Amino acid sequence: MQKQRKILVTSALPYANGSIHLGHMLEYIQTDIWVRFQRLRGHEVWFAWADDAHGTPIMLRAQQDGISPEELIEKMNAEHQLDFKDFGISYDNFSSTHSESNRGMVEEIYAKLCAAGHITTRTITQLYDEVEGMFLPDRFIQGTCPKCGTADQYGDNCESCGTTYSPTDLIEPRSVVSGARPILRESEHFFFKLSSFEDVLKKWLHSGALQTEVTNKLAEWFEDGLRDWDISRDAPYFGFEIPDAPGKFFYVWVDAPMGYASSFKELCDREGLDFDEWWGQDSKTELYHFVGKDIVYFHTLFWPAELHGAGMRMPTAVYAHGFLTVDGAKMSKSRGTFIQARTYLNHLNPDYLRYYFAAKLSNGLADIDLNLEDFVLRVNSDLVGKVVNIASRTAGFINKKFGGQLAHQLPEMDLYNKFLQASDEIAEKFESRNFQAAIRQIMAMADHANRYVDEHKPWQMIKQEGREAEVQLVCTQSLNMFRVLMTWLAPVIPATADKAAEFLGVKLDNWHAIDTPLLTTKINPFKPLLTRVDADLLQKILDDSKENLKTTTTTNSATVNPAVEANSETEPLAAEINIDDFLKVDLRVAKILVAEPVEGADKLLRLVLDVGDHQCQVFAGIKAAYKSEDLVGRLTVVVANLKPRKMRFGVSEGMVLAAGPGGEDIYILSPDSGSVPGLRIR
Ligand code: MSP
Ligand code: ZN
Repeated sequence: MQKQRKILVTSALPYANGSIHLGHMLEYIQTDIWVRFQRLRGHEVWFAWADDAHGTPIMLRAQQDGISPEELIEKMNAEHQLDFKDFGISYDNFSSTHSESNRGMVEEIYAKLCAAGHITTRTITQLYDEVEGMFLPDRFIQGTCPKCGTADQYGDNCESCGTTYSPTDLIEPRSVVSGARPILRESEHFFFKLSSFEDVLKKWLHSGALQTEVTNKLAEWFEDGLRDWDISRDAPYFGFEIPDAPGKFFYVWVDAPMGYASSFKELCDREGLDFDEWWGQDSKTELYHFVGKDIVYFHTLFWPAELHGAGMRMPTAVYAHGFLTVDGAKMSKSRGTFIQARTYLNHLNPDYLRYYFAAKLSNGLADIDLNLEDFVLRVNSDLVGKVVNIASRTAGFINKKFGGQLAHQLPEMDLYNKFLQASDEIAEKFESRNFQAAIRQIMAMADHANRYVDEHKPWQMIKQEGREAEVQLVCTQSLNMFRVLMTWLAPVIPATADKAAEFLGVKLDNWHAIDTPLLTTKINPFKPLLTRVDADLLQKILDDSKENLKTTTTTNSATVNPAVEANSETEPLAAEINIDDFLKVDLRVAKILVAEPVEGADKLLRLVLDVGDHQCQVFAGIKAAYKSEDLVGRLTVVVANLKPRKMRFGVSEGMVLAAGPGGEDIYILSPDSGSVPGLRIR
């Protein structure tokens, strides 16, 4: 048997400004399967991570919700953890990067880097929003692409022609936060001298730490030359202030990966582990980071360099994965395929998705497609039709005819040995994160088991005189194969494996336990372990996801700040709708009866509208554009059948139509004076 390894595993820290979606879950399920597999093999494994709580989008999101960033991140932390628990993610600690222990570690590492001469300062020029009084990150600037002339492109690259540029190159730039035209302003920034670490990094990347695709990508980056990394941001910023530099904050990507270490530190304090044994320069333990392909750069250049610079160990490996698509396309809010973890959990068993992801994941960077039709087929035919079926076809005989007792021996030891031989190969596939191949082989073994049951037909045998003992043997053989299959699958479908363990009367928590077959012992009554996926429920998930979209993007009328979502996948709402979709929208002429500011909200006005047959209250984000008294008595257009939404300030019962980039440049639509409240627009 292999000697016990000491393994620390992390997943990338989700941003605290949004809910967990199935794209995140792809990564967290991948990590969890690997972690559970290592535990099953008997190793010492710790899984520690956190929420990524800092940065401009989180600050602005809190502002928009009218709460403090601390309140926001606390709320999101609880929500995220509930999602993870319900998906069976078996982490040992989940912290937040906004913790005092993380602050301490970041300050310590920074002091060491300074002392070693790895930090320098330089004055840079950036776009600045005078209205909001803040420097603008690239994603918070929009303008016309300097190359192809497409309007409304972000400050870093053009979605239309793919050019990357600096935000100062944009034609007619404007702040996404206030709509104002930004000005250029100078500021002193702190830089980390990455180029000092070139040799160390090159050595590290050839130590087997990375996938081939990543190594190739890195070679390109090295060829371009390693540039200094800007690690500071100016106030206002939600993060850790840099010691002895008032008004300067650590860029979120400095303290985020440190969250791996500080979360593990909490675990050390709780479990009595020795932090330095795991993170010291000469650590003999293993450290793995699971990340998406979009953040490989941070994990393979900056992070290992920082660790080395601060006299800490570097990761054993960084494992990157591709992106989740749904039905062959990027997850889309308007198509309902931008599915939140909770929406899925409201309708379907998490083990289905865990299984499906495992069946698709390999150790490369290719994107993974969740094809909904395939999902139903795979789960139903593999999990229900093949695996569970073996038990459901044989358990009854043991329970009814033999008091639940298994036979004293296996009738076909050769067949059982075939399973044991496959076991090492399957372990190898899990170890190398080639889950797809592991699942393929497990299902091939399930086919063998089913063939065995089909050939022996215990349901016929039982009717034939004098063959009872044979029935017990056949069913014992079958249930032993089922036990092996469920042991292999336990990291993938843990909740189902727990039920199987209860039924078999033995734990399925040791990969090697299957070397000894289950004989003579008693099993428990069989209860269905999994039911078939109902395709209608998938439709419900899509419908609910569209519904979520309405409640998240109509919060403050049509002027929701797109930047607030910039951390998560953003996509324009441009799906085609048919006339029936359009007719569902009850658009009406409305008269503004009351317009007044809302205490505690800097962007909102409270409106009371006469929509003909009733009055309704709407909160609209148009305060910067209108004086409330100028609005009273005016006609506008409202979506009158929007599901009421409870906001912090009251219930919003509709949406006023407005156009424009936001801030002061927002115009409510006004019908001609002949119109009267209540008229339907058609
Ligand atoms: N906060 C950073 C990570 C800091 S790690 C020190 C971040 N957060 S994130 O919420 O945007 O993403 C968290 C992880 O989920 C990343 O590894 C990211 O690649 C992954 N995914 C986010 N959307 C995804 C898909 N659609 N598909 C697959 N993985 C995705 O990045
Ligand atoms: Zn362009």
